Amino acid sequence: MSRALNILLAVGAGLALLALITALGAARLPGHQQGYTPEQPIEFSHLLHAGELKMDCLYCHHGAESSRHAGLPAASTCMNCHQFVTAPIAEIRAEDQRALVAERPAEPVVSTELAKLYDALAIDPLTGLPLPSRDPHTIRWEKIHVLPDFVYFDHRAHVTVGIDCAACHGPVDSMLRVRQDQTLTMGFCIDCHRRSSSEGVAGLDVNASTDCSTCHY
Ligand code: HEC
Ligand code: HEC
Ligand code: HEC
Ligand code: HEC
Ligand code: HEC
Repeated sequence: MSRALNILLAVGAGLALLALITALGAARLPGHQQGYTPEQPIEFSHLLHAGELKMDCLYCHHGAESSRHAGLPAASTCMNCHQFVTAPIAEIRAEDQRALVAERPAEPVVSTELAKLYDALAIDPLTGLPLPSRDPHTIRWEKIHVLPDFVYFDHRAHVTVGIDCAACHGPVDSMLRVRQDQTLTMGFCIDCHRRSSSEGVAGLDVNASTDCSTCHY
């Protein structure tokens, strides 16, 4: 057999292997599935904060630009606003109005969901001061997107070339409760790596490798 044919066959076998593994990758390992939408300890709405209030994703997930993990915001980040906003604005206004009519001082309004935030921080929402009788605790948000341990993923590499969060997480700014929008299978990753390397991302050339060692240690 000629040397050229040998090389062709080897390349062909390599491509077939990759196709087979990509197909295998479509059948997902046990873990969270596309559509997974767990209940959270506080009904935090991305539709409200990222959609209506137009907050930047990186305000709360700044790790996505600078490290492997996007990370979740600390409760103290929420307090930038929630030391003032203790309930939906409409409810606070309604109480102000009732107080005005009744010629009495307005009562503080603290919503049930935000009370859970103050409880986690062990602070009194009305004074903003720590409650000495209580211990702060972390808010145990349910994890939604989870890759198996043997897969390497890095947010920074994707976010810095201009790939939108929505490419992998869907329209989070319209979600009342976050769900896993995509499959996150190996086929999902590799399809985009192939497409990006041939078409570029936002007009720029990128090298999104499909070598096994890119994503597997
Ligand atoms: C005000 C802070 C805040 C902003 C702004 C924000 N998020 Fe979040 N995000 C959170 C919190 C808190 C959680 C955990 C609770 C939950 O899942 O809702 C979270 C969870 C997530 C998750 C799921 C994490 C997991 O467990 O897999 C994704 C994905 C996400 N956010 C993406 C986004 C995107 C995309 C944007 C911009 C469109 C955004 N977030 C804006 C606070 C924020
Ligand atoms: C190329 C796909 C992709 C893009 C783009 C992407 N993510 Fe992710 N994200 C993932 C995957 C995959 C995971 C699960 C990672 C794991 O299990 O190690 C994840 C996990 C998360 C989590 C859970 C906590 C963490 O750090 O693992 C948050 C929050 C999050 N992403 C937010 C964002 C935000 C905000 C953006 C845009 C600035 C973004 N992601 C862009 C794929 C992506
Ligand atoms: C930039 C300001 C800002 C930040 C930061 C912020 N929020 Fe909010 N949030 C608001 C505003 C404003 C409202 C009230 C909107 C309305 O009038 O309904 C609100 C409403 C809420 C509500 C709904 C209250 C109810 O009872 O209906 C919850 C729950 C909430 N936020 C949780 C959080 C959590 C948890 C964080 C941190 C991860 C956070 N917020 C960060 C501005 C913010
Ligand atoms: C929307 C397209 C897209 C998706 C989906 C995607 N990637 Fe990527 N990925 C890229 C691009 C583009 C690059 C190359 C960036 C560059 O040139 O610096 C890349 C680079 C990488 C790198 C190299 C990082 C480094 O530090 O050099 C790893 C690892 C990676 N991706 C893993 C994954 C995994 C795992 C998934 C699936 C969970 C995934 N990617 C899904 C587009 C994507
Ligand atoms: C762009 C990232 C990426 C590349 C490149 C990649 N994989 Fe994967 N691989 C994944 C992800 C993500 C999973 C987890 C899929 C899941 O949980 O469904 C995975 C899972 C696997 C599994 C577990 C079984 C399965 O199909 O779920 C094997 C085996 C595997 N990969 C082998 C390979 C081999 C061999 C190569 C090189 C030909 C390769 N991978 C290249 C991302 C990648």
